[in-house]
Amino acid sequence: MNTSIEHISIEKVQQSRLSEVDFDNLTFGNTFTDHMFVCDYKDGVWQDAKIVPYGPLTISPAAKVFHYGQAVFEGMKAYKDDAGDVFLFRPEENFERINKSSKRMAIPEFPKEIFFEALHKLINLDKDWVQGGDGNSLYIRPFVMATQVGVSASPSDEYKFMILCCPVKAYYTGDVRVVIAQEFSRSADGGVGAAKAAGNYGAQFYPTNLAREKGFQQVVWTDSNEHKYLEEAGTMNVFFRIGDKLITAPTSDRILDGVTRKSVLALAERAGIPVEVRKLAVTELLEAAKNGSLKEIFGSGTAAVISPVSAFSYDETVYDIEKQSDSYAARFKKELKEIQYNIQEDPFGWRYPVVTH
Ligand code: COI
Repeated sequence: MNTSIEHISIEKVQQSRLSEVDFDNLTFGNTFTDHMFVCDYKDGVWQDAKIVPYGPLTISPAAKVFHYGQAVFEGMKAYKDDAGDVFLFRPEENFERINKSSKRMAIPEFPKEIFFEALHKLINLDKDWVQGGDGNSLYIRPFVMATQVGVSASPSDEYKFMILCCPVKAYYTGDVRVVIAQEFSRSADGGVGAAKAAGNYGAQFYPTNLAREKGFQQVVWTDSNEHKYLEEAGTMNVFFRIGDKLITAPTSDRILDGVTRKSVLALAERAGIPVEVRKLAVTELLEAAKNGSLKEIFGSGTAAVISPVSAFSYDETVYDIEKQSDSYAARFKKELKEIQYNIQEDPFGWRYPVVTH
């Protein structure tokens, strides 16, 4: 490897755009900080790691990413505490997952020390873009794309690894209404469902648009073989509370191994909440909705945090879910937030300081 952490060069912006940003009215993922990280893969090595002003790239229209979708990404967040220190949440998990996704998409893995040094340098440079206060965070988007020129259908031998940062508020502003998939599928056995491959998300846009037309924000995907078992919601893993039991699907090569999902499972275990990580059949959900034992559905994800589901639709019937006074979703959201914003102890070791005073 002929690049090392000391070699991340920094070109600062001449004039920050910070003062132009209306932090009270951010649309998720539309506002980017002053700087971005870029590193190229060429001649078999990651090289030329640099932080530069955020701005457009010049890429050949024949780059393989445009033709074969060879691209993966991650979603991470940084939080500011009352003292102005900034923390990432479980960044090792994202690092490991982007390389797992890359491997599945025949993309060379990225070196850990450059990943972490890039995050440190970039977030320190743009630390004033991280707003403190409930619901505010910096969404961090690492991604990799195939940049080799040529339309032959084979893996690229050149890539760009980049990191962008956006100040954000909530991803979903209200409760989420979901449709249970009966026709389309997100992923299949042996496919790329467990990878954060760009195409996994693009492929959901059409069925999600159909759901939106009917007043639902998300599709809860079911297994592609029989549409019988509930899997994930595409931007979120999904949890079901039946009685006092918390049920979520096991991860597999079809389901993303969500960082927030595994954090919720740890919080549930700490709270002594009975958890079942198992396949949940749609028929069981319908039965629970009908007999009143279905208490909650919520999604978990980095962008979505914990998003309560207020209704689901199946076979054109809408099932409303009443709010619970002892909501698990509200409890997990609060407990996660207290760790993320450095309000409470972090017995799990999830907080990772990036800006300290
Ligand atoms: C995330 O939670 O970071 C995601 O990947 C969802 C994203 C597609 C908005």
